[in-house]
Amino acid sequence: MWFRHYRTGRQAGSNRSRMRILVFALFAPALVACTFQHAPGFASGLPAGHAVASAHPLATRAGIEILEQGGNAFDAAVAVTAALAVVEPYSSGLGGGGFWLLHTASDDRDVMLDGRETAPLAATRDMYLDGTGQPTGQSVAGPLAAGIPGVPAAIVHLSRNYGTLPLDATLQEAIRLARDGFPVDTRYRKLAAFSMGRLRDSPRGGAIFLDHGEVPGEGFLLRQPQLARVLERIRDQGADGFYGGELARQLVEGVRRAGGIWQLQDLARYRVRERQPVSATYRNMSITSAALPSSGGMVLVQMLNMLSLQDLPPPGSVQRTHAIVEAMRRAYLDRARHLGDPDFVKVPVRELLSRRHASDLFADFDPGMATSSRRLLDEYGMGGALDSAAGRDTTHFSIIDREGNRVAATLSVNFPFGSGFVPPGTGVLLNNEMDDFVIKPGYPNLYGLIGGQANAIEPGKRMLSSMSPTFLDDGRRVAVLGTPGGSRIITMVLLAALEFAEGGGVQAMVTRPRYHHQLVPDRIQFESGAFGPQLQAELTGLGHTLERLGRRYGNMQVVIWERETGRVTAASDPRGIGSMEVGE
Ligand code: GLY
Repeated sequence: MWFRHYRTGRQAGSNRSRMRILVFALFAPALVACTFQHAPGFASGLPAGHAVASAHPLATRAGIEILEQGGNAFDAAVAVTAALAVVEPYSSGLGGGGFWLLHTASDDRDVMLDGRETAPLAATRDMYLDGTGQPTGQSVAGPLAAGIPGVPAAIVHLSRNYGTLPLDATLQEAIRLARDGFPVDTRYRKLAAFSMGRLRDSPRGGAIFLDHGEVPGEGFLLRQPQLARVLERIRDQGADGFYGGELARQLVEGVRRAGGIWQLQDLARYRVRERQPVSATYRNMSITSAALPSSGGMVLVQMLNMLSLQDLPPPGSVQRTHAIVEAMRRAYLDRARHLGDPDFVKVPVRELLSRRHASDLFADFDPGMATSSRRLLDEYGMGGALDSAAGRDTTHFSIIDREGNRVAATLSVNFPFGSGFVPPGTGVLLNNEMDDFVIKPGYPNLYGLIGGQANAIEPGKRMLSSMSPTFLDDGRRVAVLGTPGGSRIITMVLLAALEFAEGGGVQAMVTRPRYHHQLVPDRIQFESGAFGPQLQAELTGLGHTLERLGRRYGNMQVVIWERETGRVTAASDPRGIGSMEVGE
């Protein structure tokens, strides 16, 4: 028996239920995971090479070129961020936001750049509800769905405060790719087909990202000259090139004409924040991960805290899977109950990350029976949406340089192609990140996540995220990792972290089959291959509901540095089209 079984009394509360189902017909091509090992170097205490792993080969190349020119990991991160904004417009971009987890080797410091979008100053708590209190859907499509972007400010902040090369050098490849074009690939085509409705509804979005209103053919050269000019403005004028002057006027005018609520002061007041990452230990491994307003680091550490209460049963056993799933369920409950933008709400971070809280949360774990999410929600007065869906998009890249500087960055426009809306004349595709706020208590967002007051809409507030750029360090090896995947991001990083903690390398971390539980819907979603027939039967026997997903999910990018040998390895998830390169 794993874990003692305790029961605690909890308050009963109201119950709200809401069902929302999104059907996705997408899947990423199952390519062979690409892994590269740099030849062992010498025990200098420094990496023997540099490495970039990203979701697109053109972005990986842009980063490697900067490292080869003598730039550091932060310069490379600027180049990769900008290149992804051009070649993966469905995942991230200048109209979106993200988190850049940085490690500066010279002073052994970790910091998180928070370039998350903010709610416009004219936003209100109930802005997506109609007269009868029902959600209107405007948090998903069109200009009202867009938060104030953070990527342009973050690029400039990263370059000026951490880089060694000018933006002239680090933005050059992205500008070229936007101006001269890049060939559309299979992933682009699938995501454009999925996003057709939103793109067709936006005249400029459709004109840029579709070919005469249809999904562009494979190899179609996608040119974005207006986006190239925006990148040039940022190169020449810094953040003012985006948040001020003529472009700001065009962005605001375009948004407002189409029914949005942006004002010039929204852009002028946007600021990147530097935040102290979440850090913790799990057995012999240290974890450094995203701080609020991403829930990623906190949920990850809470799950690991629960799983460190006793020895973890062996891989493949029902006891292990059951315990991991129950830790997931409880951490997502806390996410819904407590987490939001720390600049607006008081979140008891220390308490939530404490071991004592982990053992309280896990006190009613029953090794012989699945916990009911409905019961937990009722006991905590959360009500509950007991069905929902989980989605995708967003992007991630991981970088290490020869000095030992590291970047793990997860970036997003939220859903594929975000809101679909491009303000005329700008070429900037806007996010639909406003949907990551709680539109209505208990009502699930696009990823099926629920929440309460802590993540309610307020002017200038950052919406809660799941993005989880992470560093792991077991004393022998350092890993830089992360993945897109909406609400499943955090459980993907958890499974990869457990793999690393048990000695797994980059290949195992990106390829291992995945499973996920997020409290609601009350079921274990799993990739084909994650559970054999016997394990499925045993989990069902414990009372779990299983849902085999029709597609694989995530797009993890991992770099590992072995301290003693200096060896650097990298891997790009076989579920995507990304690539890794390791250089001298
Ligand atoms: N938009 C996905 C996330 O931030 O979690």
